[in-house]
Amino acid sequence: MSKLRAAITGVGGYVPDYVLDNNELSKLVETNDEWITSRTGIKERRILKGKGDFEGELLGTSHMCKFAVEELLQKTNTKPEEIDLILVATVTPDYIFPSTANIVQDMIGAKNAFSYDLQAACSGFLYALATGAQFIESGKYKKVVVIGADKMSSIIDYSDRKTCIIFGDGAAAVLLEPSIDETGIQDFILKSDGSGLQYLNCKAGGSRKPASHETVDNREHYAFQEGATVFKYAVSNMADVSAEIMEKNHLKSDDIAWLVPHQANKRIIDATADRMGLSADKVMMNIERYGNTTAGTIPLCFWDFEKKFKKGDNVVLAAFGGGFTWGSLYLKWSYDSK
Ligand code: UT7
Repeated sequence: MSKLRAAITGVGGYVPDYVLDNNELSKLVETNDEWITSRTGIKERRILKGKGDFEGELLGTSHMCKFAVEELLQKTNTKPEEIDLILVATVTPDYIFPSTANIVQDMIGAKNAFSYDLQAACSGFLYALATGAQFIESGKYKKVVVIGADKMSSIIDYSDRKTCIIFGDGAAAVLLEPSIDETGIQDFILKSDGSGLQYLNCKAGGSRKPASHETVDNREHYAFQEGATVFKYAVSNMADVSAEIMEKNHLKSDDIAWLVPHQANKRIIDATADRMGLSADKVMMNIERYGNTTAGTIPLCFWDFEKKFKKGDNVVLAAFGGGFTWGSLYLKWSYDSK
């Protein structure tokens, strides 16, 4: 009997309406469109604005997840109560606890689902997809929703020009179901190196440094990034792991229909595609419109370019991010989208 595989059977997404372009950013910090475009490939990003239901609260990551999942359920003709599990990959949860996935579960009325968050920074969606697939492959569950979502604007210091230029907000979700053929998730390689902590982190708000007047004054609740160092690690690790998954699965460049990479910097994506021997027309990229939405980037590419996928396409996903965490996943696309 052949192995039970998990297949992506639908995609939903959401980006906020507000567009923060390079020109507006150049009014906040000393930068310009030419610098940002040539160094990163980013032209604009989306920002979630607006107030939440409770006094003093803003709209959180769950708000974007809700819209992404509602679209997913409508497109796949799925009822909320049919969902078994909801996984949310995020570094910007609504609260420290409960999990954002629990909040989404209630918002969409998925009353038979259990739900939890998973945090692997920019590799979060990749980790969550691999995790969700295990629940399908074991035969235990039939419908798993995997969401990558971040409201990065909630942890970005808009006076730090080295960091604020790359990040944006967005969310997208996929439905995983048992594959009815040989398509679906074939393989993945996930890696971590915790010594990367010093280069990419959010210093305060956790148990080592709970929130205090001092942490606020020191701007320690914002994402900190030593950009050039992270860049070097990202280029070599994302390219290496993508080459490794190709080799492991005997894939040549010509066998691959699409590379769907994490969107942090166009130069990192180009280096990965080069290493894999892929031409630019096989690389899915929307970084110019959304920037780096952390866990949102890969599923937002699925959402944006869904119509380009054909059933049976060999697709390689690759990501690198805080932790450090990185990895690559190989799947055969499972449907022709209408
Ligand atoms: O999402 C997963 C994790 N994150 C990443 O993968 C991001 C990886 N890093 C990067 O993408 C890049 O490092 C950045 C886009 C963040 C920065 O680009 P860079 O080419 O590495 O710039 P840099 O930090 O080495 O700075 C080079 C110069 C510096 O000036 P000096 O010291 O050479 O005079 C910076 O002060 O560029 C200056 N600079 C800027 N100038 C205009 C830095 N940021 C800006 C800016 N506008 N926004």
